[in-house]
Amino acid sequence: MFTNPLDRVSNLSSSVSSSGSEEPLQMQSFPLSKNAYRKCFKTLGSNRAAELLRYGKSRDGCLSLAQGEGTVSTPDFICQAVNTALSEGKTFYSFGAGLPELRQEIATYYSRIYGINLPTNRITVTSSGTNAVHYALLSILEEGDEVVAVTPIWKNLIGITELAGGSIQEYPMTQSETGWELDLDGLFETCTASTKALLIVTPNNPTGWTMSGADIERVTKFARERGIWIIADEVYGRCVHAASRAPSFLDYAHQDDRLYVVNSFSKSWAMTGWRLGWLVGPTDAEDKVRDLILYENMGPPTFSQYGGIEALRHGEAFLASQKSLWQSNLELVMSRMALMPRLQMVRPNSAFYAFFKVEGCENSYDLVKDMVDEVGLSLAPGAAFGKGFHDYLRMCFAVSPEILEQSLDRLQKYLEKA
Ligand SMILES: Cc1ncc(COP(=O)(O)O)c(C=O)c1O
Repeated sequence: MFTNPLDRVSNLSSSVSSSGSEEPLQMQSFPLSKNAYRKCFKTLGSNRAAELLRYGKSRDGCLSLAQGEGTVSTPDFICQAVNTALSEGKTFYSFGAGLPELRQEIATYYSRIYGINLPTNRITVTSSGTNAVHYALLSILEEGDEVVAVTPIWKNLIGITELAGGSIQEYPMTQSETGWELDLDGLFETCTASTKALLIVTPNNPTGWTMSGADIERVTKFARERGIWIIADEVYGRCVHAASRAPSFLDYAHQDDRLYVVNSFSKSWAMTGWRLGWLVGPTDAEDKVRDLILYENMGPPTFSQYGGIEALRHGEAFLASQKSLWQSNLELVMSRMALMPRLQMVRPNSAFYAFFKVEGCENSYDLVKDMVDEVGLSLAPGAAFGKGFHDYLRMCFAVSPEILEQSLDRLQKYLEKA
């Protein structure tokens, strides 16, 4: 006879003793599985840079220039577009690959700023640049596939690759007297039969290095011949000091090349909290990425995308004002750092980071912690950006000149004392 399953549950938890009273049953205990969680958490979990960021933020009076964002909030005209969208009830599920108006606006933006014509079906709106990298990797990687990443590189990109099942092979740039250099022959030699993709951030976080058009063309040809994917993170593509934009892989690619280009609203229009970006892929990637979106989050927030449209349509004046802030801040950084002991830094030509070597530093994680404790300044440790950068620090200078001055004072005090 079938019993009510709920009765069976209650029967399991108690029994009637010979005296007639109910006694709890001894539950059988099972050993906790050692493999309850994925192996990758062993490496993902040990993100000391993230711990240090939290540490710096938790200390009263500590100035934090450790994260990749400035102190200017999103301009009003972008926020207004979202207020309007919300008041018009744009609060429903939308298209997974993004609002058609925004996809069209991104295509128009590429044509206006880059002189590149892209069909909208190659463009997917994503919930941030980070999310775009994730989709790109998830759509191509099988477990254990190798991704060759040019370093130094933003730590999260290494984490996302591991999460997507890939293994990272780092290929470092080198710092010379005049700037950061990437040896392309060495990079090509690092690629093996197991290499599925090249991961390149240009303009680069943290160095501010920008790949030249000629180098982009060589990498594109090499990857095409070898059947290797390129994932080009171009989120700083408009944050170039002496030009309107950096050379893009899209300038040199054919439309069916195995190329994903990642972009974001975060850096150019001060929209880090909006979690909005986009991905450009080959023509046959659209349905693959759309499937991933369906099972991930069904697309970026509907109302945020109206802010994205506005940023692309009317955001050039704001971007120009941001660039002039970054440039004058960079001058301040260069002139102040030239007088500080133990520092070696080459002038970045894009983005808003000072990435510098500290003579005698053996462990940048320890140094960052010590600097927080000693002078109340939190920077990002170089070791987080790849092997071989243990004696570097990164300072984000996209902040107000007052905060930057105070931070430089504290850095100088620390270096003179230590
Ligand atoms: C190279 C690079 N890619 C992507 C991102 C993240 O962009 P988003 O805020 O759109 O996720 C960052 C943020 O610092 C970055 O430095």
